[in-house]
Amino acid sequence: MSELDEIVNLIKNKYKNLDLKGLHAHIGSQIFEPKSFEDEIEILVRELALVNERHGINLTELNMGGGLGVKYTEEDCPPSVQDIADMITGSMKAASEKYSMPLPTIYIEPGRSIISTSGVTLYTVGSSKKVPNATKYVAVDGGMADNPRPAMYQAKYTAEVANDIKNREFEKVTIAGRYCESGDIIIENINLPKLYPDDILCVYNTGAYNYSMASNYNRVEKPAMVLVNNSQSDMIVNRESLEDLIALECVPDRL
Ligand SMILES: Cc1ncc(COP(=O)(O)O)c(C=O)c1O
Repeated sequence: MSELDEIVNLIKNKYKNLDLKGLHAHIGSQIFEPKSFEDEIEILVRELALVNERHGINLTELNMGGGLGVKYTEEDCPPSVQDIADMITGSMKAASEKYSMPLPTIYIEPGRSIISTSGVTLYTVGSSKKVPNATKYVAVDGGMADNPRPAMYQAKYTAEVANDIKNREFEKVTIAGRYCESGDIIIENINLPKLYPDDILCVYNTGAYNYSMASNYNRVEKPAMVLVNNSQSDMIVNRESLEDLIALECVPDRL
């Protein structure tokens, strides 16, 4: 008996308050290869058919999970949502015919792709340090607290300078954060116009996970968030203040 059979039996015989509607799977984040979804659909529809055959239950819903890939760097080439939708509907029809099953209601969990590329982070450049025979470090006024992904699992990003950079030479640098940790690196070895203090560095594709993962590491205030649309800009998260940071702290009466 498969694990799925065991679960179906449990729902049928023990947890009768549960209404088994369909199957859900999640094959991972940053899926760039539509064929992965095709393979997933083939397996899931086969399982729908097996549940029907062995248990007489007609499952009508199929949740394929996520997560659609987004472009963090030039190497990332995500297929368009339209291409993925066409592939999913085509594969679903083919698999349903193959296993003589009615088409289920399809759900997907697009995850970060809904919002990720609509966000950028603007850092102000601070000091630089050239390490002999190694990279040049350029420090910015943020880092692993507003974006822990590079420090946690070496996530890659790309960046550009947002202010006027006419006639500047390019050089390879590593963008370091302000949090006093050796892992506090935002981008390693990126080719950028020579950076000077107060330049604005724009790091792309930070609309998903960054704010939700942000922390007050080393007691630093979280940055503000601004919505920019059709030449209008509005504050949607205020910059944190020192007062906000200590708002929950209290001094015992006896002191
Ligand atoms: C169940 C489930 N669905 C969807 C996603 C997709 O999210 P994302 O593409 O943002 O990683 C995840 C993330 O791991 C997940 O756990």
